[in-house]
Amino acid sequence: MDIICFRLLSVLLLQCLMVSLTVIGSNLTTDQFALLSFKDHILDPHSFLSSNWSTNTSVCQWIGVSCTVRHGRVSVLDLSDMGLNGTIDPNIGNLSFLVSLNLSGNNFHGNLPKELVNLRRLKLIDLSYNTFNGEIPLWFGALDKVEYLVLSNNNFTGTIPKTLANMSNLETLDLGSNLIHGNIPYEIGDLQKLKIFFVQFNQLFGPVPSSIFNLSSLQSISLSYNTLSGSLPDDMCYHLPELEEFILTATIGISGFIPSSIGECSELQVFTLYKNRFSGIIPRSVGNLTRLKGLYLGENNLEGEIPLEIGNLRVLEIFVANNMRLNGSIPASIFNISSLKELYLYNNSLSDSSIALLPIQKAVFSIGYSILLSCD
Ligand SMILES: *[C@@H]1O[C@H](CO)[C@@H](O)[C@H](O)[C@H]1NC(C)=O
Ligand SMILES: *[C@@H]1O[C@H](CO)[C@@H](O)[C@H](O)[C@H]1NC(C)=O
Ligand SMILES: *[C@@H]1O[C@H](CO)[C@@H](O)[C@H](O)[C@H]1NC(C)=O
Ligand SMILES: *[C@@H]1O[C@H](CO)[C@@H](O)[C@H](O)[C@H]1NC(C)=O
Ligand SMILES: *[C@@H]1O[C@H](CO)[C@@H](O)[C@H](O)[C@H]1NC(C)=O
Ligand SMILES: *[C@@H]1O[C@H](CO)[C@@H](O)[C@H](O)[C@H]1NC(C)=O
Ligand SMILES: *[C@@H]1O[C@H](CO)[C@@H](O)[C@H](O)[C@H]1NC(C)=O
Ligand SMILES: *[C@@H]1O[C@H](CO)[C@@H](O)[C@H](O)[C@H]1NC(C)=O
Ligand SMILES: *[C@@H]1O[C@H](CO)[C@@H](O)[C@H](O)[C@H]1NC(C)=O
Ligand SMILES: *[C@@H]1O[C@H](CO)[C@@H](O)[C@H](O)[C@H]1NC(C)=O
Ligand SMILES: *[C@@H]1O[C@H](CO)[C@@H](O)[C@H](O)[C@H]1NC(C)=O
Ligand SMILES: *[C@@H]1O[C@H](CO)[C@@H](O)[C@H](O)[C@H]1NC(C)=O
Repeated sequence: MDIICFRLLSVLLLQCLMVSLTVIGSNLTTDQFALLSFKDHILDPHSFLSSNWSTNTSVCQWIGVSCTVRHGRVSVLDLSDMGLNGTIDPNIGNLSFLVSLNLSGNNFHGNLPKELVNLRRLKLIDLSYNTFNGEIPLWFGALDKVEYLVLSNNNFTGTIPKTLANMSNLETLDLGSNLIHGNIPYEIGDLQKLKIFFVQFNQLFGPVPSSIFNLSSLQSISLSYNTLSGSLPDDMCYHLPELEEFILTATIGISGFIPSSIGECSELQVFTLYKNRFSGIIPRSVGNLTRLKGLYLGENNLEGEIPLEIGNLRVLEIFVANNMRLNGSIPASIFNISSLKELYLYNNSLSDSSIALLPIQKAVFSIGYSILLSCD
């Protein structure tokens, strides 16, 4: 009886010990296992990981790895610019405390494994400058803590999934320089915290959804080099108090007028409509954009006179308005802008007489002046 009891007790104790060992052990080894498995799936031509990611030291001391203070679990994986070549191993989905994943500037390729969706603590994902392909996965929408999603300069295909609108904490969405086609989803306008929206150099088509111009947090937007169409809403700037950069170059199909509300985007520093099909005049309210450093309007169908108010742009450095149908004289106020470095007004119908008035002693006009002389 005593013996049976003792044996039962020791079995229980042993089991208890084993259970606790596995619990502790699994916490310690899950991350190590996931990282070693990740390493096994890549070539490491510069040997950043080969000797460093060794089981005789804690994963928290491995290069590119940082851990949480409390649990000693992997929270940051930054393997940017290491020349690594391979696919992402699905076991990376076991790094359940991961907050930041930066694999930028390597040769990772293939599809993103769906196990990444298990990383619910992720706030930062930077996979830029690799050769990932396949579609942008729908399950990104479930990663609702992510603030920073950068997938630019890859070979992602397919469309922009509507589910991205579920990433309600997103502040930066950079999908530039991929092979993405289709419309910009209206639902992007649900991302109330979005500050940066870059989709330049893709194959997007259709109109720019008006919902985007309701995102009062927007600071920088680039839609350049797509096949977009439609026009910009005239009241575009009534809800964009933070907008600093608006970049819309060479979209092939965007036409219509420059929004008359443009003067309300009072934080604008760069405004680019270069090489589209805008028509009508340059609105006077452009003169209210007193922080503007770059104004690129050239290669459109704009006509009429350059508004005198341009002279109010006291920090303007570059003004591009070549190859259009501008007429009248060049407002003398332009030459009062001491910050102006470059002025491109060639191939318009501007009257030459004003050139005689140029204060050519101002060195800042050295570039602009020679270009002005090639005026038609
Ligand atoms: C890691 O996750 C995979 C499923 O993605 C699972 O099969 C495996 O057992 C996990 N490994 C560890 C060590 O937890
Ligand atoms: C860990 O192992 C590596 C080789 O795998 C060796 O270079 C290194 O000196 C070892 N570090 C310690 C602390 O033992
Ligand atoms: C691994 O790299 C880290 C960061 O460079 C360094 O602190 C650590 O000592 C290295 N460990 C080994 C075993 O080389
Ligand atoms: C190990 O993991 C379990 C369950 O995930 C958790 O309750 C426990 O606190 C962890 N222990 C350590 C030392 O991290
Ligand atoms: C990722 O790493 C690269 C290279 O170190 C860096 O330039 C980039 O800012 C990092 N991404 C984020 C989101 O911090
Ligand atoms: C990556 O590795 C593969 C072999 O697995 C090789 O064919 C390819 O050229 C490598 N890519 C780069 C950019 O090094
Ligand atoms: C996005 O949210 C909607 C409703 O809130 C939900 O039905 C859908 O499953 C979510 N999608 C993802 C990918 O999380
Ligand atoms: C990525 O796409 C470009 C353009 O279509 C193509 O030239 C290149 O070969 C692709 N690279 C990879 C690794 O798929
Ligand atoms: C912009 O927001 C207002 C108020 O939040 C809403 O009534 C309007 O429909 C929105 N417009 C667009 C184009 O989403
Ligand atoms: C711009 O400035 C003019 C005065 O130059 C003012 O009448 C106008 O209300 C301002 N705002 C806009 C958006 O034009
Ligand atoms: C400039 O062109 C507009 C039509 O585009 C015309 O109405 C106006 O009279 C012209 N002004 C001058 C000074 O030629
Ligand atoms: C240029 O600036 C000076 C001094 O601020 C001012 O007196 C003059 O009227 C301005 N000229 C033009 C054409 O705006």
